[in-house]
Amino acid sequence: MTLQAYRAQIFHFLDDPQKDADAYQYFKDGLLLVEDGHIKAVGSYRALRKTLGDTTKIHHTPNHLILPGFVDTHIHYPQVDIVASYGEQLMDWLTQYTFPAEAAFNDPKVCKNTARFFIEELLRNGTTTALVFGTVHEASVEAVFAQAARRNMRLIAGKVLMDRGAPKALCDGRDLGRAATVRLIKKWHGKHRLGYAITPRFAPTSTPAQLAMAGDLKARYKDVHLHTHISENKDEIKAVAELFPTAKDYLAVYEKYGLVGDKTVLAHGVHMSASMCQRISSAGASVSLCPTSNMFMGSGLFNLARLRRHNVRHALGSDIGAGTSFSLLRTMNAAYSVCQLQDLSLSAMDGFYMATLGGARALGLGHHIGNFEPGKEADFVVLDLQATPLIARRLKIAKRLRALLFAIMILGDDRMIARTFVMGKRVYG
Ligand code: GUN
Ligand code: ZN
Repeated sequence: MTLQAYRAQIFHFLDDPQKDADAYQYFKDGLLLVEDGHIKAVGSYRALRKTLGDTTKIHHTPNHLILPGFVDTHIHYPQVDIVASYGEQLMDWLTQYTFPAEAAFNDPKVCKNTARFFIEELLRNGTTTALVFGTVHEASVEAVFAQAARRNMRLIAGKVLMDRGAPKALCDGRDLGRAATVRLIKKWHGKHRLGYAITPRFAPTSTPAQLAMAGDLKARYKDVHLHTHISENKDEIKAVAELFPTAKDYLAVYEKYGLVGDKTVLAHGVHMSASMCQRISSAGASVSLCPTSNMFMGSGLFNLARLRRHNVRHALGSDIGAGTSFSLLRTMNAAYSVCQLQDLSLSAMDGFYMATLGGARALGLGHHIGNFEPGKEADFVVLDLQATPLIARRLKIAKRLRALLFAIMILGDDRMIARTFVMGKRVYG
């Protein structure tokens, strides 16, 4: 592949801004060089242009900002058609809207159509990697992997495991979902840029036997992920206490079956004790914060200060379809509001970190994606700084980097995404 050169404003992180406030690079007139789908170099245009031969075409887009592709650490692809469903909190929302919608995925045509729409919508929003729930149907995961593979996307997904607390048609049979999970791992894990996540929906919809089976698979297939929900809603927590009366808290249920390790991603974590935070942190697991979902569903406010105090790895999830937007810019905006309601001001640095390198690290993918270090996979997004009249006007007077990024985090959405690239190839815009 020939060398590709992109000249624009460029921003990316070298490390967590909470650890090192200066661990980022910003080039007001920058150049990003991509070769064979990987980052070759990033720097100022002045410094890097000398390294280019006369024949290299430079794609120059002033008034645009190049960022690493966004990483969505929790999303349900079969729920695109129930976004914006009225009036219920989690447990009733699942029975009224979610389970009927997911039942439709016993039809491979529904899987294929929805998976195609879903992947296109991710890319249209600048999201290049996601950790994805399918449904209980094996074909649902086949479909989303097939669509991601066509675009060479880095994506992690899994078949939902459920064997109680849901309609019979959505429950795994006698083998508890084991055979389908194993087939999917063997067929897809590590192929292209894809990874598998063992995906028990949450404690209330799995028997102890199914959770034990999931733990056994986790022990056998050590490098696959484990993806589930935790402590999102107060009625859910009550149900877990009733179904698992000997567990000292929600996390203890997952711990008992060996489900909490450094490849584990726990979605929500809204109502968590200091002890749970401390144990998640020691296990090296990640929490996916889903602020648009938590507000839409009335679930509550995640406690970022506490997560930080216990050094819990965390990042952002859109949680479509309880969440209300695919856009991680909108998700950052919601995270800012959630923090403001608790007297914590979430900086744009922290917001953009969670959506890029922080998200990659939360999924254990920080050595492949998340920033523009040479050799990394060239997944990136080009933001139009003049996407709307208000954005153009507001950004023009944002003279300093932090003010610019903050205005993007608050005003930005899919309208700002001009182009999205996966492994150096334009896949949107
Ligand atoms: N908890 C268990 N299943 C779900 C789901 O589909 N969405 C959300 N937001 N929470 C859940
Ligand atoms: Zn979810």
